[in-house]
Amino acid sequence: MMPPLDFTTLPLPAIHFGDGRFSMLAELARSFGKSVLLVTGGHTLQNSGRLSALEDALGERGVKVFHQVAEGEPSPELVDLAVSRWKGEGISSVVAAGGGSAIDAGKAISAMMPQSLPAERFIEGRPGFLPHDGRKLPFIAVPTTSGTGSEVTNNAVISRVGPEGFKRSLRHPSFVPDIAVIDPELMITASRELTASSGMDACTQLIEALTSPLATPYTDAVAKSGLERFSRSFIAVCSGRGDESALRGDIAYGALMSGIALSNAGLGIVHGFASSVGGLFDIPHGVLCATLLLEATRENINCLQHLDPKHPMLDRYAIAGRILSGSAESDIADGCSRLLETLEEWQELLGFPRLRKFGIVPEDFERIAALTRSKTNAVDLDHNSMQRILSSRW
Ligand SMILES: [Fe+2]
Repeated sequence: MMPPLDFTTLPLPAIHFGDGRFSMLAELARSFGKSVLLVTGGHTLQNSGRLSALEDALGERGVKVFHQVAEGEPSPELVDLAVSRWKGEGISSVVAAGGGSAIDAGKAISAMMPQSLPAERFIEGRPGFLPHDGRKLPFIAVPTTSGTGSEVTNNAVISRVGPEGFKRSLRHPSFVPDIAVIDPELMITASRELTASSGMDACTQLIEALTSPLATPYTDAVAKSGLERFSRSFIAVCSGRGDESALRGDIAYGALMSGIALSNAGLGIVHGFASSVGGLFDIPHGVLCATLLLEATRENINCLQHLDPKHPMLDRYAIAGRILSGSAESDIADGCSRLLETLEEWQELLGFPRLRKFGIVPEDFERIAALTRSKTNAVDLDHNSMQRILSSRW
């Protein structure tokens, strides 16, 4: 008998996915009004000529364009500076085109433009936190990497990195972008390293959503669909083999599904570390996910097996293992082993850097464990488990 189900889902943007969809952007932005703030990351779009093509297309439609560059993961200061710079310009919508950081910067700027207080007041867990009222400018997200799934999520990750640093979210259901334009052709110029680390972020999000205690049949279907497309193309795209456009499409789809799944099911211990380690040390989010996923998965599976060799969560890890390894016939124990073997192969092949490379020392582990929270991890991990994960990747 089907068990009873009670769950809600977050809204989704209007999604335009596929090669060439970037050409729809000017018309979509014009539908919100005649003055657009473009937020971009580094120079990828500029160098490819796409930025000037977009500006021309907007100009032809009588749309005034303002441009904010947001390099690196956004800080509250960057968001406040952009808001004060552009507030008087009558901006009708914000379009962010870039990696996850640029999209989060644009999302935060669109959320803060109608507000009068600084961004930090609305960041979860910060002193004097105030719930955001949800008013924002219309926002269009255009990812140029496949990883965070920020094009469909309700939060923008904001950080100030350092000994007293933090990496936390500005969040409201209304922050889900109004439109997501996902064009795999934009991702072709991403380097092998960036493709690998951002792809591992998406993979981590898919596995963590699948093994979350808050998973539902909806998030399961989304996460499995994402893992299937992701796993068939990930190594090929990182190795530069095969039809680049089709492979990039699979990875972009996996990242998109990971965003939908995580919004509704939450994430596990790797993303708990992303918040604690990410606030203290300057380490890109995708790289941290890439380097921790194997050992975090091993620790989760070991703890579950210790609790109960027939724990239902082990079946979920086995499902991920069957999809990633392509071995449909394995039982639960085999499936879990296949998952670890596949992640180990990827780690060796792609050479994810160790934690020591980012200035982390073993004396930091206790403090990191004390700061790390993950209510939606597959199993409740104690500080010893957390420190084992960190030390095995040091
Ligand atoms: Fe992530």
